[in-house]
Amino acid sequence: MEKLVSSWFNNKTLPQSYIFPPETRPGNHIIPGSNAIPVIDLGNASAHDRTLVVQQILKASQEFGFFQVINHGVSEDLMNDTMNVFKEFFELPAEDKADLYSEEFNRPCKLYTSSANYDGDKVHLWRDSLRHPCHPLEECIKIWPQKPTRYREIVAAYSIEAKKLGSRILDLISEGLGLDLGYFGDKLSESVVVSVNHYPPCPDPSLTLGIAKHCDPSLLTILLQGDVFGLQVLNDGKWIGVEPLHNAFVVNIGHQLEVVSNNRLKGAEHRVVTNSTVARTTAAIFLNPSQDCIVEPAKSLIRADESPAYRAFKFKEFLYNYVTMGGNSEKSLEPFKLHG
Ligand code: OGA
Ligand code: NI
Repeated sequence: MEKLVSSWFNNKTLPQSYIFPPETRPGNHIIPGSNAIPVIDLGNASAHDRTLVVQQILKASQEFGFFQVINHGVSEDLMNDTMNVFKEFFELPAEDKADLYSEEFNRPCKLYTSSANYDGDKVHLWRDSLRHPCHPLEECIKIWPQKPTRYREIVAAYSIEAKKLGSRILDLISEGLGLDLGYFGDKLSESVVVSVNHYPPCPDPSLTLGIAKHCDPSLLTILLQGDVFGLQVLNDGKWIGVEPLHNAFVVNIGHQLEVVSNNRLKGAEHRVVTNSTVARTTAAIFLNPSQDCIVEPAKSLIRADESPAYRAFKFKEFLYNYVTMGGNSEKSLEPFKLHG
């Protein structure tokens, strides 16, 4: 517990173990929130404009691997309640969170700090995180935090809505790629995991990161980023800030969708910078394949003059390699690539 950044960050100087090497630290160069990342209005998706929405999603997923969605159907009240209950969780007194703190890799519901392997970190990350599965609800809700009192009720409603939204976006993506409707509907997106990130104010944001450069191991990620800036996406070798937009979700393509689409969609690299004034809380919902699900490039996407870029693998094989490689985005897919 005492390792959590939120337990000691008031100390005012950044410990040596949080200082990134010069080539990966953000530095003093300020990257503002930018409107480069497309904002897609899903309110149009049910009418005759569906084709346009499909095209917008495909284009954003090819160019950036990132987009934001508005008019997505999740109510503003539920988004606010969810953000508030996550913030309240991190504000609970230490004794109310102590039972959830764990450095055990496989513990399903846990509060931890930095990465899944604190002792193996080269540099620690300036974040605490609460992570747990969200589906199937009846099974996993029993292991969720019991405080704040409304945690289970609100997060249950939220995770159902987030999964629904994710499935809708996956349907639009499958339409855009020309895959059968429902292609992603079963085992490929069966597992739903929430990761609530909490980044306390940091004494020197130029030297450290909340999350280092990575691409999500998921199929698709739906992020509630709140109203504090911090997320940056790598595009053509440059970092672009993702502007916090009220009532929007940030959506990004994970490694699994990169594989299934045979690299038509881009698993975008991103990172999180900290700030010295306000705490930032975000919640990522990862739609993941089930552990034993076979992931491979969709056969119908391989044209006659093309070959698959990856061999088939089980999602758990991928995860094992992802963790072993410390989330390094170039190396995580390496063992599954087919050359030639
Ligand atoms: C993540 C992530 C972004 C953020 O949890 O994988 O990239 O802004 N989070 O917290
Ligand atoms: Ni991420």
